[in-house]
Amino acid sequence: MDKLVINGGKPLYGCIEINGAKNAAVAILPAAIMASEGVCNIDNIPNIEDVHCIERINESLGCTLVRDKNSVSIDSSKINSVIANTEDVRKMRASYYLIGALLGRFKKAVVELPGGCPIGVRPIDQHIKGFEALGAKVEIKHGCVTAEADRLIGTNIFFDVVSVGATINVMLAATFAEGVTTLENVAKEPHVVDVANFLNSMGANIKGAGTDVIRVVGVESLKGCSYSVIPDQIEAGTYMIAAAACGGEVTIQNVIPKHLESISAKLIEMGAEVTEDGDCITVKSSGNLKGVNIKTQPYPGFPTDVQQPMSTLLTVAQGRSIINESIWESRFKHADELKKMGANVKVEGRSAIIDGVSKLTGAIVKATDLRAGAAMVIAGLIAEGTTEVVSIEHIDRGYPNIEEKFHALGADIIRVFCAE
Ligand code: EPZ
Repeated sequence: MDKLVINGGKPLYGCIEINGAKNAAVAILPAAIMASEGVCNIDNIPNIEDVHCIERINESLGCTLVRDKNSVSIDSSKINSVIANTEDVRKMRASYYLIGALLGRFKKAVVELPGGCPIGVRPIDQHIKGFEALGAKVEIKHGCVTAEADRLIGTNIFFDVVSVGATINVMLAATFAEGVTTLENVAKEPHVVDVANFLNSMGANIKGAGTDVIRVVGVESLKGCSYSVIPDQIEAGTYMIAAAACGGEVTIQNVIPKHLESISAKLIEMGAEVTEDGDCITVKSSGNLKGVNIKTQPYPGFPTDVQQPMSTLLTVAQGRSIINESIWESRFKHADELKKMGANVKVEGRSAIIDGVSKLTGAIVKATDLRAGAAMVIAGLIAEGTTEVVSIEHIDRGYPNIEEKFHALGADIIRVFCAE
């Protein structure tokens, strides 16, 4: 297993470019299988393991895929299976989008239950509630979801919790439901809007994405289109936090600053300088910042997916910070790793109480999940001495070329390839 070896303590200076959004791409690629004619040419697709995984799943269903750097062409006209049951399906979370996509287009989907980061219980009851409301019969047996309908019929669906996955999945199926579907209490994340825009580019009729209510007027078929995925809000947030933690001045290019407002606001509250200029955001910091309290919330609140990187920054901020993780029940597994580096973190249920220390010290630490991995890389960058981050396959699922990007900013970080 590969590892990242970091000699910490160097400020970060320079520019980096953010890639396309993982959580948009992993929904758009399954959505592309809904086009029964033409080719979807999708650009700004990040080169990460979760994307490769979805691409392989699409191919296993009979799609033809051609990859060229950051773009992919998908021809889904000859799909010959509604059964998604490969190891890749079980490995990742976003494979559940195949349920909505296949159910919509073929009125039948047989998809093994998804995996994903170990960050707490990850139910799909709201997805099922939505499919059933549209008229599907849904059954879970032997770890596999079967959803089937003679017809899907538009209706009103009020979600009990705000869920990114359920919003997107039910929107996919509703695209092919007869009549109008109204989805209420939906997620407003930028990637929800991006998936709706992609579906509309293929010929869907979806309005309201980005607000609390989405209205889908069903269509009979979709066709190929050209589309470019939005920049990754979470990747950008991670580099903003790293710049604030290490000190220096970093310009992050290819971002939508509006998507980063909750992160910018916290960094400014801590004493960093954050400036926007078109599709760039610059973070300037002395590295000496003050602690703040954070509560993770659905968009536009502070994103749970940057909570872990942020917690690393808070370990060296002055005073006490309290993080309340309101989305996932178990997203502080990295706290024990931070403690190995001298951090003063106490986890109590869904809260972490962090008392800032003057420095972290290098250690061998583990990436317990994707964002925890990014948190440990930032910890290594600010720590005195050498840090080795192991289990970095988690990081590779979501951060393209992380060591190259940090290296370009002046960090001393290398990937060591280890034989299995
Ligand atoms: C998406 O997960 C993201 N994953 C997650 O990012 C992200 O943390 C999460 O949204 C919240 O923003 C992908 O997009 C692939 P949810 P998802 O459904 O869709 C509860 C990362 O690091 N819930 O919005 O699975 C659930 O338990 C990953 O990139 C139900 O109760 O999250 C949670 O408390 C990790 N029933 C809350 O809703 C349901 O049917 C939000 O979950 C569905 C969800």
